[in-house]
Amino acid sequence: MNDLQVFSNSQALAEAAADTIADQARRSIKARGQFYLVLAGGSTPEPTYRLLGKPPYRSQIDWSRVHVFWGDERCVPPEDEKSNYRMAWEALLAHVPIPATQIHRIPGELPAGDAAAVYQAALRAILGPNPRLDLILLGMGADGHTASLFPNSPALEVEDELAVAVHAPDQEVPWRVTLTLPVLNRARTVLFLVSGEEKAEALARVREGDEAMPAARVQVQSGEEVWLVTAVA
Ligand code: 6PG
Repeated sequence: MNDLQVFSNSQALAEAAADTIADQARRSIKARGQFYLVLAGGSTPEPTYRLLGKPPYRSQIDWSRVHVFWGDERCVPPEDEKSNYRMAWEALLAHVPIPATQIHRIPGELPAGDAAAVYQAALRAILGPNPRLDLILLGMGADGHTASLFPNSPALEVEDELAVAVHAPDQEVPWRVTLTLPVLNRARTVLFLVSGEEKAEALARVREGDEAMPAARVQVQSGEEVWLVTAVA
């Protein structure tokens, strides 16, 4: 956790996140012609997505050069209100001129193992066998999980797959697909967005390097790891 920025409220956090994403998009597109962005699920990122989908941020990004992926998905149909895809579509993707062929959702309507295999193949088809994504957005739960990497999960030890199926029985949607740690740790930039006082203990444990917290296992190899948090988290 080499860069931690604390904000007084979630709106200030969302604006800082939107600034960071727009800046990273400009840099990636200038350097390599594309911006490979991984969206996070849950509720925290939604205000940031809404900001990016309207002026002034909307026009700051050349959406024709952007590919979006997800860090994880619940195994539900894309129109389900619990779908991470649906949240991002409604908050952002429906409002920006990104080509539909550049939206790479995890097919949550499939059985988890099939969905993970389809998603992994899509990632490899676009970015090669060991994809390096430009910016990966992540959230964190009160138990220190990130994406759908939960404490003590076998998925935390997977090294030879990009995406795996996860069964998390205590979650409202138990079957999920998640990117694995090697993909997260190969990113150029990982941006954590964390808000909510219920996460304060987990955040403190991550800052201490407690690897029982999956979020502490995100250790970007040769890139940036930035945490934007609200004061209560
Ligand atoms: C998901 C997310 C998950 C989320 C955390 C935080 O599918 O639920 O990917 O990892 O980021 O649970 O969720 P909130 O932002 O809703 O607190």
